[in-house]
Amino acid sequence: MEIFIDTANIDEIKQANNWGIIDGVTTNPSLVAKEKDKGKDFKAIVKEICEIVNGDVSAEVIATSYDEMVEEARVLSKVHKNVVVKIPLIPDGLKTVKTLAKEGIRANVTLCFSANQALLAAKAGAYIISPFVGRLDDIGHDGSEMVEEIREIYDNYDFKTKILFASVRHADHVKQAALLGADIATVPFKIIEQLYKHPLTDAGLKQFLDDWAKLGQKI
Ligand code: E4P
Repeated sequence: MEIFIDTANIDEIKQANNWGIIDGVTTNPSLVAKEKDKGKDFKAIVKEICEIVNGDVSAEVIATSYDEMVEEARVLSKVHKNVVVKIPLIPDGLKTVKTLAKEGIRANVTLCFSANQALLAAKAGAYIISPFVGRLDDIGHDGSEMVEEIREIYDNYDFKTKILFASVRHADHVKQAALLGADIATVPFKIIEQLYKHPLTDAGLKQFLDDWAKLGQKI
């Protein structure tokens, strides 16, 4: 399973990339708006991210009508070869995805909250579908069940659309993504850090080093 980082923060992207465990990046308008440098051109941010991480980088359109989404998607796709254009799961969005697929522009269909929506996105030719698991969990539903259903539907019909487990809220979501056969999980920086953490790892390492120190040797 690929692990993407879910952020527009350049420092976080650099740090996670240095650890060597991220395969790509997802951004969204809210994540971009959260960053300090509000004046910085969005396309410049996307280009900078693409130059740091050698993998898919999702950048979202702001328009909601077919003509404008197609236009924005064409602009974003020209920023770098690794850009995947994020398109919202609305009727005009899926029409846009179909047009983009014919042009060879890869789309990540975002804001997916049901298996039926994911089926339509795959039929439209989406490169990635992004089921927002955490936001469903937030309102008392089982977001992981949606991913399980999408996996089964895509496998039934051999759809090549990648399933990206999105809206990750905690480290256990990452495990669920892997167990359910998601192709990608996009993970906030704080949760990537938590993936490494285990108290027994820290305690065990301390014990090993303390015991070794008693030998007074170097390797
Ligand atoms: C996915 O690409 C989205 O950016 C993201 O996972 C949304 O997560 P949120 O529900 O924490 O905003």
